[in-house]
Amino acid sequence: MTELSEGLFDYHQRSKHRVNHYAPGPTGLDWANQPDPFREFHGAAQLKLHLAADSLVTRYNELRRGNLPPACRFDLDHLAVLFELSLGLSAWKSYGAKRWALRCNPSSGNLHPTESYLLCPRLPDLSAGVYHYLSRDHVLEQRAAVDDPHWTAAFSGNGVLIGISSIHWREAWKYGMRAWRYCQHDCGHAIAAVSYAAAALGWQTRLVLSAADDVVANLMGLDHSADFESAEREAPDALLWVGDPDARPDLSRLLGPLSKASWYGRANRLSQEHVRWPDIDSIHRITHKSLTQEPAAPALVALPPPAAPALDLSFAEIARQRRSAVDFDGTTRIAAVAFFAMLECLMVRREAPPWNALPHPVLVHPALMVHRVDGLDPGLYIFLRDPSALPGLKQTMRPEWLWQKTGPDHLPLYLLLPYDLRDVAKLICCHQDIGADSCFALGMLAKFEAALHEPWRYRHLFWECGMLGQVLYLEAEAAGVRSTGIGCFFDDEMHALLGIDDYAWQSLYHFTMGGAIDDARLSTLPPYEFQP
Ligand SMILES: Cc1cc2nc3c(=O)[nH]c(=O)nc-3n(C[C@H](O)[C@H](O)[C@H](O)COP(=O)(O)O)c2cc1C
Repeated sequence: MTELSEGLFDYHQRSKHRVNHYAPGPTGLDWANQPDPFREFHGAAQLKLHLAADSLVTRYNELRRGNLPPACRFDLDHLAVLFELSLGLSAWKSYGAKRWALRCNPSSGNLHPTESYLLCPRLPDLSAGVYHYLSRDHVLEQRAAVDDPHWTAAFSGNGVLIGISSIHWREAWKYGMRAWRYCQHDCGHAIAAVSYAAAALGWQTRLVLSAADDVVANLMGLDHSADFESAEREAPDALLWVGDPDARPDLSRLLGPLSKASWYGRANRLSQEHVRWPDIDSIHRITHKSLTQEPAAPALVALPPPAAPALDLSFAEIARQRRSAVDFDGTTRIAAVAFFAMLECLMVRREAPPWNALPHPVLVHPALMVHRVDGLDPGLYIFLRDPSALPGLKQTMRPEWLWQKTGPDHLPLYLLLPYDLRDVAKLICCHQDIGADSCFALGMLAKFEAALHEPWRYRHLFWECGMLGQVLYLEAEAAGVRSTGIGCFFDDEMHALLGIDDYAWQSLYHFTMGGAIDDARLSTLPPYEFQP
């Protein structure tokens, strides 16, 4: 084992929640230092974006089938829709004098460590440069103006880059050491959210996998120390190409013009005081990514389209009504056909969001604790998003599992054990009732050890989990039920249930879906009511 992988395994083990002790975190919440959920760059010119998402007629069902509408023109108004329906606000909630924003992308603890940037050539109504998206006001803040034809030429085709970064402190304030994992989950949710919204505009999304972290940071201006001074730094995560999939820009040709650009704005400080979590700094260093080869797209099998969901909603409706359930009723059931369709949406269709964004073979498979799905025995199931994972998983898990093929022929769904697992699911979800009261709960099993010969892939495993989560959030809305991502779970309890006692596979994210009970004490306000 190299020193890096030792550090990675050490972080992974020590950031697990265990039944008898949780991962290291703060002993209480320091409300006086609660991080500001919104980053802004004081002094940067602001470009007000229109709220135009209601004009978008794309149906959600078409997107999940990979039927994208004709590509919209790349201009300011369409980019406004992209941000509004991916990373924009979806509502304000209030309780007494307290008010907080929700967004189209979910986030552990609603802390939203994810920031986003637009890098674009000259476009109608938009000058070439780098912009930070401030979701609170639905504005683009101009960080860099690039007046160099080489910049625009480097984009070489129809498209823009979306950069994603994380402010680890936002999450660490509440969750301590484990927070870094949640930042990665949130990044995965954000990647998927962008991919869906782009698809609704007829645009394809591709993660630029080859990019080195330092280049991603340069492109977003995260290396401009003077602009951050005492403000919390942002860690570069992902770069997404949104546009013509065959015309990816040459990143090295963007860096030259950017070094001569004028930069504007100073980052706001989110908290007065900070607590350092050295384990987060070290896992961030360990998973640093250098330049790699762009992988060849994996070969895919043709799949029949998923059955239509119960509700035929527009993508704009689904994106904005997506919410996490706080409680489930413990009675709602879903039909097997709906359940199978959800699983189908977890399989990769090359041109369908969000999997069009992911250029590598699937590495994550859900292990499901089914409680209330009509026509299915309650019990433990596994769904193989890539059937070739079967021998490896069989070898790792309990030899006594049934491996009984269930559901439509093309769906690699296996019943492992018919059993009422409600209490187990609740326990695994850190004793949260939603584990038991849901229609089903699941853990996302990632092909762990093999992926980690390159430690940066640890981040990508969490991203893939977050993307699965985003699919299930949207699928739940379309089925008339609701979902909740579960970051708080007892890792090794799930492994013990499955019979996993090594690192070949690890469960990295959990999820629940069921009939939601709303909290009647909360009021809901529209997302941009307060806009001038
Ligand atoms: C990575 C992640 C982990 C989460 N973990 C939990 C959890 O353990 N328990 C829970 O009740 N909600 C959990 N949530 C739901 C968040 O609390 C929720 O997304 C956030 O409050 C924002 O609300 P919204 O999803 O309705 O926009 C999680 C969400 C994400 C994205």
